[in-house]
Amino acid sequence: MNLKNYLTKAQKEHWAIGQFNFSTIEQLRGILSAAKETKSPIILGTSEGESSYLGLEETIALFEISKKKYNVNAFLNFDHGRNLDLVKKAVDFGYNCVHFDGSSLSFENNISETKRIVDYAHKKGVLVEGELGKIEGESKLHREEVKVKQENLTSPDDVFKFVKETKVDSLAVSIGNIHGIYRKEPGIDFERLKDVSKKSKAYLVLHGGSGIMPKDIRKAISLGIVKININTELRIAWKESLIKSLKALDKEARPYKILSQSEDSVRKITKEKIKLFTNPNL
Ligand code: 13P
Repeated sequence: MNLKNYLTKAQKEHWAIGQFNFSTIEQLRGILSAAKETKSPIILGTSEGESSYLGLEETIALFEISKKKYNVNAFLNFDHGRNLDLVKKAVDFGYNCVHFDGSSLSFENNISETKRIVDYAHKKGVLVEGELGKIEGESKLHREEVKVKQENLTSPDDVFKFVKETKVDSLAVSIGNIHGIYRKEPGIDFERLKDVSKKSKAYLVLHGGSGIMPKDIRKAISLGIVKININTELRIAWKESLIKSLKALDKEARPYKILSQSEDSVRKITKEKIKLFTNPNL
């Protein structure tokens, strides 16, 4: 099955596919092991920063080889692409889907730029995720509270036109979800999600999955979310186990001894998330 088949299946059966971001080989392996152990399809994501750290060609090569080795149904998404040339490169190099983030553009420009990417990507069989509204925050631990600006939320009235004119496959929505983990999360605006769902034929994507309570994740899935992005929780798990290893193995210098613990902690979190997303009734 291709990614579109899985997203359609998820839409019909009310579950969601997780997108898990990575920028190191331990994270990649931890995520793929979790997919293998749960026998679940999975999306791996790399942002502009993550893929430029690894190198775009290297990211694709690593992904393709590892996917075969782990024998899992895994797909690669270019996350929050803002630079059109870079997004096109990701399409050319073999990403399965690209997220074009036109959220800083005016509504009309977001439509026209997203459409350009859709025309380009669809010719090569690559799916496109658009973004309407602006998802705030950054994928890290924040000490402060956050208030989401009303003007940044997805307007249900714009959804129909955006999806119809751009022909995006998926749509990232801003409904109180934010990137990163804050001292107090703003909470999901479920009424807005209901209204957006009614207006959208596109697959709905919930960014900023870290820090959202399981009961809210379940409810979001029941109201039409079919893809959920997770990054911060994996980054924190990776970093905390690295700090632990460095302390415990203070005489050790072999990177493969020090870094291997991080793979396991990423695997554990990813597994929990996959279980939550694929069995929302549990
Ligand atoms: P979190 O960092 O909050 O999990 O969000 C990740 C994300 O949405 C990537 O696009």
